[in-house]
Amino acid sequence: MTIPLETERLIFQDWTATDLEPFHALCADPSVMQFVGDGEPWSRARTDQFVATAREMSQTLGFCRWPVIYKPSSAVIGFCGFVPASDGAEIGWRLAKESWGRGLATEAARAVLKHGFETLGFQRIIATVQAPNTASIRVVEKLGMKAESTFQRGGREVILFSISRPN
Ligand SMILES: CC(C)(COP(=O)(O)OP(=O)(O)OC[C@H]1O[C@@H](n2cnc3c(N)ncnc32)[C@H](O)[C@@H]1OP(=O)(O)O)[C@@H](O)C(=O)NCCC(=O)NCCS
Repeated sequence: MTIPLETERLIFQDWTATDLEPFHALCADPSVMQFVGDGEPWSRARTDQFVATAREMSQTLGFCRWPVIYKPSSAVIGFCGFVPASDGAEIGWRLAKESWGRGLATEAARAVLKHGFETLGFQRIIATVQAPNTASIRVVEKLGMKAESTFQRGGREVILFSISRPN
C-alpha cells in the first residue's frame, strides 16, 4: 500500500463507501461524460462496478484509479490513477464540473504520474484521449506526454499519448 498520496489541495486514498454517492453524481453528469467511452452518463450499477474494480485492483496490484479528495471540503471530486496497459500503465482522470478550470486535474495528474514512475516503477505511461477532448489533451500536454498514434474506439477517434520514465 503506497497510498495515501497528497498534493497541496488534494489527497488520493482507497475508495470508501461514502465516496460512492458523490462519485456517482459526477459520472451521471452528461457534460462530464461527453468524451468518456460512448459519451453516455453512467447508471449507478456502472459506477458501483467501476469502484469495485478499482478496489480489487488496488489490493492485487497496489494501484488503481483512486478517488481524488479535495482537502478543504474532504469530499471526493473525481478520480485520477492507473489501469494496467500492455507495456506499463495507462493514466486517466475525471473531475466534477464544479471543480474544472482551477488546475486541479493537472495537480492530480502530475502527482500520480510521479508516483507511477518513482514508486510503482513503471517504465512507460500512456493516456488515451478522444480527439475533441481539448481540456484533457491540454492536461496530457502539460504532463509532457507526446502524441504517438490515433485509432478508432467505438466509432470515436482516440489519440494515444505516452511518456517514458525519466532517466
Ligand atoms: C479533463 C479534465 C479532468 C480537466 O480538468 P481541469 O481541472 O479543468 O483541468 P486543469 O484546470 O488542470 O486545466 C488543464 C489545462 O486545460 C485547459 N483547459 C481546461 N478546460 C479546457 C477546455 N474546455 N478547452 C480548452 N482548454 C481547457 C486549462 O486552461 C489548462 O491549460 P493552461 O494551464 O494552459 O491554461 C476535466 O475537464 C474533466 O473531468 N472532464 C470530463 C472527464 C474527461 O473527459 N476525462 C478525461 C477522459 S480522457
